[in-house]
Amino acid sequence: MAAAAAVAFGIRTMLLLAICMLPLSSVEAMVRHYKFNVVMKNATKLCSTKPIVTVNGKFPGPTIYAREDDTVLVKVVNHVKYNLSIHWHGVKQLRTGWADGPAYITQCPIEPGQAYVYNFTLTGQRGTLWWHSHILWLRATVHGALVILPKLGVPYPFPKPNREQVIILSEWWKSDTEAIINEALKSGLAPNVSDAHTINGHVGPIQGCSSKAGLTVKVKAGESYLLRIINGALNEELFFKVAGHKFTVVEVDATYIKPFNTNTIVIAPGQTTNVLLKANHKIGNFLLAASPFMDAPIPVDNRTATATLHYQGTLASTVTTLTSLPPTNATAVSTAFTESLRSLNSKEYPARVPLKVDHNLLFTVGLGNAPCATCVNGTRLVADINNVTFVMPKISLLQAKFFNIKGVFTDDFSANPPALFNFTGSQVTNLRTTKGTRVYRVGYNSTIQLVLQDTGMITPENHPIHLHGFNFFVVGKGKGNFNPNKDTQKFNLVDPVERNTVGVPFGGWVAIRFRADNPGVWFMHCHLEIHTTWGLKMAFVVDNGKGPNESLLPPPSDLPKC
Ligand code: C2O
Repeated sequence: MAAAAAVAFGIRTMLLLAICMLPLSSVEAMVRHYKFNVVMKNATKLCSTKPIVTVNGKFPGPTIYAREDDTVLVKVVNHVKYNLSIHWHGVKQLRTGWADGPAYITQCPIEPGQAYVYNFTLTGQRGTLWWHSHILWLRATVHGALVILPKLGVPYPFPKPNREQVIILSEWWKSDTEAIINEALKSGLAPNVSDAHTINGHVGPIQGCSSKAGLTVKVKAGESYLLRIINGALNEELFFKVAGHKFTVVEVDATYIKPFNTNTIVIAPGQTTNVLLKANHKIGNFLLAASPFMDAPIPVDNRTATATLHYQGTLASTVTTLTSLPPTNATAVSTAFTESLRSLNSKEYPARVPLKVDHNLLFTVGLGNAPCATCVNGTRLVADINNVTFVMPKISLLQAKFFNIKGVFTDDFSANPPALFNFTGSQVTNLRTTKGTRVYRVGYNSTIQLVLQDTGMITPENHPIHLHGFNFFVVGKGKGNFNPNKDTQKFNLVDPVERNTVGVPFGGWVAIRFRADNPGVWFMHCHLEIHTTWGLKMAFVVDNGKGPNESLLPPPSDLPKC
């Protein structure tokens, strides 16, 4: 007996030792299960209450925690009256496009009473991302953080913080957001701006509604904090600041960058930014604040959302140290921030910028007018890429591609705009946009250079463009019209920032490069929800490569039907 036990013990010890000697990732990748019940919930903000669509009754919704290489399974059950789908913003979804989430692009929506399990692996990604509803304007309240920790035992490439805190910035409308957008689509005009900004769901004390305390972030003197900041707003880029403190920016869109210090960050809808904050005071209360950035003559919600950074041991009566945010049109502050972003490009985290380009694309992005007899001005605002206002299909593009269903899309999206003109000039020809469900098709592993050129057709404007399925490198950026001869020479092909959402500057252009190493259908759109609604969107189709490892997986059996 004793001998047998000893042998068994010995074998177990050996097994354990053997397991411990395997590379960390192979034993530690886990499967994480989450359940998202989409339900209505009454929420009180700005001294009034309205029912909102939420995940598990929370606004913002629950944070998903996982580690690099983990597999995440989220069962989404739709208990509300709207069709919906959830997108895991920034997750590359290698070969798992069925779990990406944009409605009518990679899946049919989950109908009321139905459920769908999103199943994806976080391959080679770590950092802060987020999830949100990807249909209509439901993402106003259906969103939350997705925190991907490094593999167990792998440190951050920066000093380890004592604590971490998710900060989600968002917008709040007093009335129902679906009603707001429906009203705007009827009139053909721009929708109402929001009534407040929120920080983790709190508007903070607002005049006339002072009983509503804001969020309090508690800190201890001497400790350091990793703030995982997400802009979940529908339509507004935001400045974010903490009185009396500096940030060290260490990551954007779940890629590490060369750390730099700043007291103000600028963040567009869709983007995420990780900063280190050192609690370098002894005691005190300090204001955290978010306010809009808009450098075009377009109305914004200019209310500031506030919260409090509270040092342990500070008396409740202590007056909060205030801060002032940059003016709404502070282009210089925004530019200084974005120009400080560089890939870390270390041995562990190299920047694999494609040096050779297979597809050289120039896409104009902007707004336009279309005739509309029932609209207020006889025209409606629309938006386009290369003059095409994207029309949503009736079944998902990915299904159409996988099952070879004809007539859903055409793969004739043009590599260049239909006409060259002074794109950003104020006196531009008002080209009517054309409508279509057009995609740009590329072979597996081909490389793409895409110059996104703002137009001034209605007014120049900053457009945060988001690409699904990939990260891209931001190799260049400039004012006015892109000039291939001059501007290409100045591209940064060494350590450009790598991200999934980039701002096309007001009256300018931005150049990105990526490798199409992910077969599927990948949406690209402006992350200002109103521009997406108006048609500033298109998709890339990436064909399968050789063999199963370079091919899209078959759809899961519970994929929603249209
Ligand atoms: Cu965060 Cu297609 O979006």
